Amino acid sequence: MTSNGTGSAAAAPVDVQRQGAEALDRLASWRGDNAPNRPSTHKRILVTGGAGFIGSHLVDRLMEEGNEVICVDSLFTGKKSNIERWRSHPNFEFFRHDVIEPFTAEVDQIYHLACPASPVHYKYNAIRTLKTGVLGTLNMLGLAKRVGATFLLASTSEVYGDPLVHPQTEEYWGNVNPIGVRSCYDESKRVAETMAFDYHRQHGVAIRVVRIFNTYGPRMVENDGRVVSNFVSQALRGTPLTVYGDGSQTRSFCYVADLVDGLIRMMNSAHTGPFNLGNPGEFSMLELAQLIKDQVDPTSDIKYLPATPDDPAKRKPDITKANTNLGWAPGVPLKEGLIEMIADFRERIGDGVKAPAPTSSA
Ligand SMILES: NC(=O)c1ccc[n+]([C@@H]2O[C@H](COP(=O)([O-])OP(=O)(O)OC[C@H]3O[C@@H](n4cnc5c(N)ncnc54)[C@H](O)[C@@H]3O)[C@@H](O)[C@H]2O)c1
Repeated sequence: MTSNGTGSAAAAPVDVQRQGAEALDRLASWRGDNAPNRPSTHKRILVTGGAGFIGSHLVDRLMEEGNEVICVDSLFTGKKSNIERWRSHPNFEFFRHDVIEPFTAEVDQIYHLACPASPVHYKYNAIRTLKTGVLGTLNMLGLAKRVGATFLLASTSEVYGDPLVHPQTEEYWGNVNPIGVRSCYDESKRVAETMAFDYHRQHGVAIRVVRIFNTYGPRMVENDGRVVSNFVSQALRGTPLTVYGDGSQTRSFCYVADLVDGLIRMMNSAHTGPFNLGNPGEFSMLELAQLIKDQVDPTSDIKYLPATPDDPAKRKPDITKANTNLGWAPGVPLKEGLIEMIADFRERIGDGVKAPAPTSSA
């Protein structure tokens, strides 16, 4: 009991001590969260294009690992539903923003994925695609320089154009038409790589450049004109699978979870790249059509249409560098990845989504 009989005077110093300790804990945790060089795996990460197909799977992984994630997306091809599960999470923020305009945030890492990726979408407004690839990348590199963030560029196998070397190694400089209908995408990715390396050489920005080969999986846009989504949509709707040319052109298909694993390994490595990320398994368009028919409807027909301009004849990554330097290799066979993708498409197409005619084997 207390000397003055109130019963509270003796207890007060104890409370003050505890409150002080709690305040110190809060301060320590605040410092831990906000210190620029906090020695923790918990990072503040900006993902541009985070509401898109690959971006949203990347956001899932980064959030599941306990990071703070800022997602910036114009929603040109991305969807809010792709990131819906994180909307009210305290570690997640979404900004509807076009990367053509500057954006500022204190972050440790920037995954720069914002860019329409399918021929239907990047040809829709070619000049906007160029601006996104050039100005958008410039803005994000400027941000990385200002805040000292590590910058990862999602480049593409399209930098190799219609390759004269097979499979494509990172040393190959490509065979790209600079004035064709696909050039807005291919050439803006090429200049994005140039800018990343110049920011690295001139300003010491930590960069990571990956060249992504065809990736597939749940959350692809059903009507994006990419060959896997076209075939799956067509088979599910009972319409013929449209093959451009004679169907002998080849592509390699990487399941999105494998790709995301490669992106994260690359970001957390000490390598600038460029490194190819893709699945070296090579399939002709006819083989892919057959695999999808087998899983959805073996009675589906195949319809042949004229080849599209600048559609590469062959595409297959040499992933020796990613394998040696990052210990990365894709693990999901095409047949198994397709099961997941078909289940997702079945759910969405069942909701009445309509797909226009596809355009290429990209
Ligand atoms: N999917 C593939 O097979 C593949 C292959 C090679 C490279 N890539 C690259 O990976 C990245 C992601 O591709 P994806 O397949 O997820 O495509 P996607 O279209 O699903 O995602 C791109 C996202 O970027 C957003 N976006 C586009 N322009 C923007 C802008 N100006 N400002 C802000 N946001 C913008 C879109 O709304 C979308 O959410 C792209 O940079 C693409 O070039 C993808």
